[in-house]
Amino acid sequence: MHTLVTGGAGYIGSHLVDRLVELGHDVVVLDDLSTGNLANLHHAMPNIRFVEGTILDGSTVDSLVADADMVFHLAAAVGVGHIVEKPLSSLITNTKGAENVIEACVRHDAKLLLASTSEIYGKTSKMPMSEDDDRVLGSTTIARWGYSTAKAIDEHLALAYAKQGLRMSIVRYFNSYGPRIDPRGYGSVVANLIRQALKNEPLSVHGDGRQTRCFTFVNDTVEGTLRAALDERGEGLVFNIGDNHETTINDLAQMIVSMIGSRSSIQHVSYEARFGKGFEDTKRRVPDVRRASEVLGFTASTPLKDGLAHTLEWWRATHQ
Ligand SMILES: NC(=O)c1ccc[n+]([C@@H]2O[C@H](COP(=O)([O-])OP(=O)(O)OC[C@H]3O[C@@H](n4cnc5c(N)ncnc54)[C@H](O)[C@@H]3O)[C@@H](O)[C@H]2O)c1
Repeated sequence: MHTLVTGGAGYIGSHLVDRLVELGHDVVVLDDLSTGNLANLHHAMPNIRFVEGTILDGSTVDSLVADADMVFHLAAAVGVGHIVEKPLSSLITNTKGAENVIEACVRHDAKLLLASTSEIYGKTSKMPMSEDDDRVLGSTTIARWGYSTAKAIDEHLALAYAKQGLRMSIVRYFNSYGPRIDPRGYGSVVANLIRQALKNEPLSVHGDGRQTRCFTFVNDTVEGTLRAALDERGEGLVFNIGDNHETTINDLAQMIVSMIGSRSSIQHVSYEARFGKGFEDTKRRVPDVRRASEVLGFTASTPLKDGLAHTLEWWRATHQ
């Protein structure tokens, strides 16, 4: 297959590129390197074509999609910190940029895999979160909800075009972590805690640390993505792609400290101090994984301890 991966120099995108190359597909990457890093693709370069450019440039997107059978759309402004600091450019990238990619897929009859997010569910208290559940969001005056809203517009657009014949599937990722995570990115809690623990600095845990997340090792994130994209039974559907084991941030921090043998203590930092006034967080975030399991035969299988060990190994090898 001829594949296009937008955001392929990013954390998840670069792992997806590696798997696509391994499987023998042609891979073109479009990335503006805003949060991505060419070093993530260094080893893959002989086997792929890299185009530095933005998804906001409709003609570049159009010409690359014209040559693709399958488009993995991962390029986005990612990470709550990023979204809160740059709400306008984030919204533009995540709506207009996505619209360029989706409409080019329609024009050229390319199949689309849209990367969406567990943030879609907002601050719902219904657990686990199932794909057809209601979304519960805060006010538009709170910038973080702009990320969820923009991704929801992308999903609506893809679902509406699917009714007119677009072949597509949507994946909602739940806290992916693994080698190449960037402290600026979505997986920032794992990256930040590892960075601080290795320096024996206090680990900054937001709030009381009792909020939970379901951390998903990147190999599982990529496997779920590929199955949703390539398995015809996934066409037209939305899938949660995540592990369903809940971990509090306090427990995550303690696990990292003990794996490293660090002398760090845990320091609770208020949300306001980190993200400014009026920030809202989600207390729990647990995926309902039944649809991915029943339709795609996909279950995340890497225990947190093993995934963290791989991540630490990579970190030590690349951050000396
Ligand atoms: N990491 C997670 O746990 C997680 C969770 C939910 C959703 N997601 C989604 O997964 C996708 C990948 O996220 P990631 O964690 O790998 O983050 P990332 O920041 O590493 O990857 C995003 C990539 O998109 C590129 N990009 C940004 N704006 C662009 C533009 N205008 N044109 C071209 N490229 C652009 C960046 O340079 C980067 O390489 C995103 O769509 C994100 O919303 C990730």
